Amino acid sequence: MKNDKILIVDDEQSMIDFLDVLLRDEGYIVEASNDSEEAYQRAKLFKPDYALIDVRMEPKNGLWLLKQLKKRHPRLVVIMMTAYISVDEVVDAMKKGAYDYITKPFNITELRAVLKNAQKHIQHPDKTTLDKMEYQFDNFIGESKVMKNVFDDIRKIAPLDSTILVTGESGTGKELVARAIHYSSPRRNSPFISVDCSAIPETLLESELFGHMKGSFTGADKNKIGLFEASEDGTIFLDEIAEMPFLLQSKMLRVLQEREVRRIGSTESISIHARIIAATNRNLTEEVRHGRFREDLFFRLNIINIQLPQLTDRLEDIPVLVDHLLDKISQRLNKSKPALSANTLEFLMKYHWPGNVRELENALEHALIMEEGPLLDVSSFPDRIVNASKETGPIAIAGSLKESVEEYEKSIILKTLEDMSGNQFKTARKLKMTRQSLQYKLKKYELLK
Ligand SMILES: Nc1ncnc2c1ncn2[C@@H]1O[C@H](COP(=O)(O)OP(=O)(O)OP(=O)(O)O)[C@@H](O)[C@H]1O
Ligand SMILES: [Mg+2]
Repeated sequence: MKNDKILIVDDEQSMIDFLDVLLRDEGYIVEASNDSEEAYQRAKLFKPDYALIDVRMEPKNGLWLLKQLKKRHPRLVVIMMTAYISVDEVVDAMKKGAYDYITKPFNITELRAVLKNAQKHIQHPDKTTLDKMEYQFDNFIGESKVMKNVFDDIRKIAPLDSTILVTGESGTGKELVARAIHYSSPRRNSPFISVDCSAIPETLLESELFGHMKGSFTGADKNKIGLFEASEDGTIFLDEIAEMPFLLQSKMLRVLQEREVRRIGSTESISIHARIIAATNRNLTEEVRHGRFREDLFFRLNIINIQLPQLTDRLEDIPVLVDHLLDKISQRLNKSKPALSANTLEFLMKYHWPGNVRELENALEHALIMEEGPLLDVSSFPDRIVNASKETGPIAIAGSLKESVEEYEKSIILKTLEDMSGNQFKTARKLKMTRQSLQYKLKKYELLK
C-alpha cells in the first residue's frame, strides 16, 4: 500500500540500490542498511511495516535480525531473501516468525507478488479511529478545579514510562484518561490496547494477555501472541484490574517487576516495552484488606494515581459537559443540536448521577431521541431521572452560574445532613461522595458548627 514503510537489509550494496529504486517507485517509504545490528537500531525509530532481510550476512546474519525484530515488533511482516534454497534455513526462518521468503535473483514481478500477499497481513491502525482518539484529549471536558488538576497531571505524566493507576466511580472517564495519556505521549504512534479484565472469561484472560504456544492446551491450535507483546512500544490499558483472578495477579506482578512475559507453554521470556495503565472503580485498599487483591501488586500499580471525581462533586462542569455531549450525540444521531431551557439545565443539576458522565450522556441521548422540537424539555428525559429530581426542592438562581451552582450544592448538602441527623458518614454515603470531599465542602460553605 502507498506509504507503507519498508526496511531493506542486505550486505550487498547493489541489491540495496536495486530494491531502493524499485520500491520507492512503487510508493513505499524505504530505509536500508547493510548491517544487522544497525538495522535493528534503525527499526526502533523507523517502525517499518515490512522488512526484507538477506539471510547470509556478517557478522550477525539475517536470522539473528529476524529474531530480534520479531521480539520487539511482533506485528512486523518479515520477508527473507536467500540465494540458495536450503530447506533447513527456510524452516528455521518460518519458526522465528518470517512471513515469507524469496529466492535471489528475483524480478520485480516476483517481488510484487510476495509483497502483495504480505499486505493482507499488515494490521493498519484505522486512521479514522486514530484521529478520533487524538481528538479525545480535546474532547475531555471540565472546567472545575479538580478536573483542571487532572488535566495538569496527565500532561505531566504523559511523557514518562511509569505505570499509572486510574481510579474513580463508573462513568467518570477512566478510559478517557488512559487514552489522553497515550495520545499525548511519545508512544502515540504505537498501539493503544484496551483490555477489560472483567469481560474476558478467567480461563482465557491469561492466554489473551500472555499468548500461548501451539498445543499448550486443548484448542491452542496455533501460536498466539499476547496483548502485552502486541502493545509493542505503545500502551496497554488494563481496565477493571480488580476483577483479575488472584492467581493471574501474581503473574501480573512478575510482568511489572521483570518487564517480561512468557507465553503459556513456552520457556522463553519475551521482553515487553508497553506502558501499563490500570483502572478500577473499586477501592483497591479495601480489596487488599479483604484478601481479594495482592498488596504487592497494588503497590506496583499505584505508583502514580489519578483519581477522578464524581460528577456530583463538580456540578459546575455539568453545563459545559451537556453542551459538549449534545454536540457529540446530535452528530451521531444526525439531528440538529437542540437548545436547552434554563429549566432543563437546572433539572440536570439536581440529579445525583450515580452513573456519572456516562449516565448523563445516556440520558441526553434518550432525550434527544424523544424530543422532536428544537428545545430540549425535561419531559423528554427518562422518568427515573425526572422523578428522582423532583425529590429535592426548587432552586434559586443567584447571580452567576457558578454562584447558583454553589448555592444549590450547599442546600443539598445541608438538607441531606439534616436528613441524616448530622451524621457526616451517612451524608457522604447518601450523596455518593467521599467523606473527605464532604468535609472539604462543609468547610468551604461554612456549614460546620
Ligand atoms: N470529562 C469528560 N468529558 C467528556 N466526556 C466524558 C468525560 N468523562 C467521561 N466522558 C464520556 O463518558 C463516557 C464514559 O467514560 P469512560 O468510558 O471513560 O468512563 P469509565 O470511568 O471508564 O467508566 P466505566 O467504569 O463505566 O467503564 C464516555 O462516553 C466518555 O466519552
Ligand atoms: Mg471504563
